[in-house]
Amino acid sequence: MTLIEFNETQGIFHLHNSKISYLISVEEGGLLSHLYFGKKVKDYHGQMRYPRVDRGFSGNLPGTFDRTYSPDTLPREFSSAGEMDYRTPAVLVRQENGANALALRYKSYQISAGKPSLPGLPATFVQNDNEAQTLTITLADEVTGIEVDLLYTIFANQAVIARSSKLRNESDQTIYVEKLASLEMDFVDKDFDVICLPGAHANERHLERGAVNFGKQSFASLRGSSSHHMNPFIALVDKKTDEFQGEAYGFALVYSGNHNFEVEKDQLAQVRLVAGINDFNFSWKLVAGESFQAPEILLAYSDTGLNQMSQAFHKTIHNNLVRSKFKNEERPILVNNWEATYFDYDEDKLKPIVDEAKDMGIEMFVLDDGWFGHRDDDNSSLGDWKVYQKKFPQGIGHFADYVHDHGLKFGLWVEPEMVSFDSDLYQQHPDYLMQVPGRAPSPSRNQYLLDMGREEVRQNIYDQLVKVFKEAKVDYIKWDMNRNMSDVFASDLPSDQQGQVYHRYILGVYKLMEDLTAEFPNILFEGCSGGGGRFDAGWAYYMPQIWASDNTDAIARQTIQYGTSLVYPVSMTTAHVSAIPNHQTGRKTPFDTRGAIAMSGVFGYELDLTKMSQADKDQVKVQVKQYQAIRSLVQFGDFYRLKSPSEGNQTAWNFVSADKKEAVLVTAQVLAYAQPYLTKTKLAGLDPDKYYQDQETKVIYGGDELMNLGFYDPVVHEDYTAKMYHFKAID
Ligand code: GLA
Repeated sequence: MTLIEFNETQGIFHLHNSKISYLISVEEGGLLSHLYFGKKVKDYHGQMRYPRVDRGFSGNLPGTFDRTYSPDTLPREFSSAGEMDYRTPAVLVRQENGANALALRYKSYQISAGKPSLPGLPATFVQNDNEAQTLTITLADEVTGIEVDLLYTIFANQAVIARSSKLRNESDQTIYVEKLASLEMDFVDKDFDVICLPGAHANERHLERGAVNFGKQSFASLRGSSSHHMNPFIALVDKKTDEFQGEAYGFALVYSGNHNFEVEKDQLAQVRLVAGINDFNFSWKLVAGESFQAPEILLAYSDTGLNQMSQAFHKTIHNNLVRSKFKNEERPILVNNWEATYFDYDEDKLKPIVDEAKDMGIEMFVLDDGWFGHRDDDNSSLGDWKVYQKKFPQGIGHFADYVHDHGLKFGLWVEPEMVSFDSDLYQQHPDYLMQVPGRAPSPSRNQYLLDMGREEVRQNIYDQLVKVFKEAKVDYIKWDMNRNMSDVFASDLPSDQQGQVYHRYILGVYKLMEDLTAEFPNILFEGCSGGGGRFDAGWAYYMPQIWASDNTDAIARQTIQYGTSLVYPVSMTTAHVSAIPNHQTGRKTPFDTRGAIAMSGVFGYELDLTKMSQADKDQVKVQVKQYQAIRSLVQFGDFYRLKSPSEGNQTAWNFVSADKKEAVLVTAQVLAYAQPYLTKTKLAGLDPDKYYQDQETKVIYGGDELMNLGFYDPVVHEDYTAKMYHFKAID
C-alpha cells in the first residue's frame, strides 16, 4: 500500500490513507510550503498553490526580484530566524559569529516503510512495517551546512500523523540550538477557536475554548514537567465544531518536560502553530557532526467533531505508544491506603484493610507514601528506598506475603526523582541535589529534586529501587513526582551547556524508566505527579496508566476526566472511590455517584475499608462485580462525550465495544431543582440496526432510538447524582 507519494514534476509530497491527506510543496527557491491537512483527497492538481500577491512590508527571497513572492506570507512547513518571515520561527541556531540566521531550503527526501524510533525519547511505533510509512525531508542551509530532517509518519488506519524534527550540525563550527520545534503548521482562511487543557494541582485538564485572535497566544509549561497547569496539547477547531460535527485539528506532544504551543494569527489572518520543547532557558550545544532530535508530536484530524479527534488519539496512543505488556490486559481493581491512613500506619493497621479488601473482591492492595526511611510525614526520607522498620518490623517482603496470601496483588508507591534534606542520601551525596551554586535551593513540599541528568544519580536510585522491588515482590508501582523543577543547574556541565538542563533531566527520567520497565516487565507501572501533573503522551510509552488527579471528588472528577478524555484513552486514566466528606472539596456525594464516575476510568478505592458502614461495604462488593462485568468495555471500548460538565448541570458519556454489542452510559447531575426542566440523553456510536436491552430494567430499545430519540433523564430530588446504564445487544 502506498501511503506517501512524491510528484517530481509538481514538487508535491502527498501523504494519504483512507481518512486523511497531507500535502507539502517545494516552492521557488526551495522553500517548503504547507498546502493542506484534512480529509482525504484522491490526488492533487495544483489548485492550492499559494496565490502570488504583492504585500507591502513583506519582502522577498534574496536573489529573486518577484515582489509577489514572500516567505512572510507563504504557508510554511518549517521556518527559521533571519528570513523574511516575521512570524514565530520553528528553529533558532546561534552560530560562532553570533548570528542566528538560517535559510533552510529543500535538499532531498526519503520514503521508508514503518516508523523509526527516536533514540532516548518516547515515540510511536508499529508492529509491522506495512502499518505506516515515513517521509523524511531534508532541508539545508547553504551558508553553514546545517541541516534539518523533518519526519512525517502516516499510519495506515488512523487519521493521525506523527511529526518530529532533527537538526544535524553538518557545519565545521560549534553551534547552539536555541529553539527546535517539533512541528510548524500554517493555516490559511481558518477562523479558529483554540482548545487547551489548563488546570492546577487537584484541578487538572479542564477544557478551555477561546478565539484565535490577532497576535500570539502561548500554551506552555516552564515547570520542568508537562504540568498540571497546561497539558501539552491544543486543538484548533472551527467556530461551529462541537463533539459531533465540524473540523478539528488536535496536536499532542509526546514529551513530559517544558513545552510551548505558540499560536499566531498574522497580518492576513493566517494562523501559524509552532509547537515543541519550550525555548525558555534552552540552548543545546552541538559540535560539528552532532545532532539534536526534537520530540514527536501527534496530529489528529477530524471532520466530524471532537469525539472523532479524541478517538483517533485514543487508538494511536493505545496501539502505537503504550508498550507495557499490560496494555491490553484488564487492569486490577485496587485499594490504595493514601486517603485511608496518610502517613499514619504500620503493618498491623494495614492488615485489616487487606482482609476487608479480600472479602470485598478487590484485586490489589497499594501501599502508598510513608513505607520507607523514617517517613512519618512529608519532611523526610525521600531518596532512602529502604523499608521503615518501625512500620514493618519484619520487612516489606513479609507484608507483601500477607497481601499475596490473601489472593491480592501488591503495589508500592515511590518518588524516585526526589530527595529530602533529612535523608541518608542527602547526607552522603549533597551534590546530587539540583541547585545553583551559592544559592539556597527552593523547597516545595519540603523536598528537592535530584539531578536525573547525571548517570551516577540515576544509578544510585536504580540500584536502590531494583533491590526493594525484588524484596517487596511488587506487582505494581506508582511512580510519583510531587514538586516542579527550580534551581535549574547541573553541577557537572560547563557554563555553555546550562541551557541543556531541563531537557537533560527529562531524558534522564526516561532513561531510568526505560531501564526499570525493561528489568521488570511484569510490573504494572502507574505514573503520577501530585495526581495528573505529568499526564502526557510521552509518559504512556513507559507506563500504561496515570493517576488522573489527587482530587477524588465525584463532581470535580467529571470535569477532570472529561477534559482528560480529549486526548488520552480511558485505559490510561485511573479513578478511585474515596470517603466523604471528600478530602479535597469537603463535598458529600452519594456512594453510587462516586462509583459511577470512578468506574468510568481504571477503577479502584482510596479509603479505609474498615471504617465504612455495612451498607457501603455491601455496595463495594456490588460495584466490584459490576465493574468486572464492564471493565473490558470501559477500558478498551470507544468513548463518546455526550454532555459537558462545563456547559450545564449535567454530564454524560458512553462507552461502546468494538463489535457494538455492548454499551455503558453514565449520566450525572450536579444540583436538583424543585421544578426541573426535563432533559434527554442520546447515546452515540451504537449500531442503529441492533436492539439493545437495558440490563437493569430489561427494556429493549433500537440503537437508532437510543441515538436519535434518546430517553428522559430521571427526575431526582437529590444533589450530586449519577447513574450507570448497561446495554447489551440482543439477537
Ligand atoms: C501525591 C499523589 C497521591 C499520594 C501522595 C503521597 O500527591 O498524587 O496520590 O501518593 O503524593 O505523598
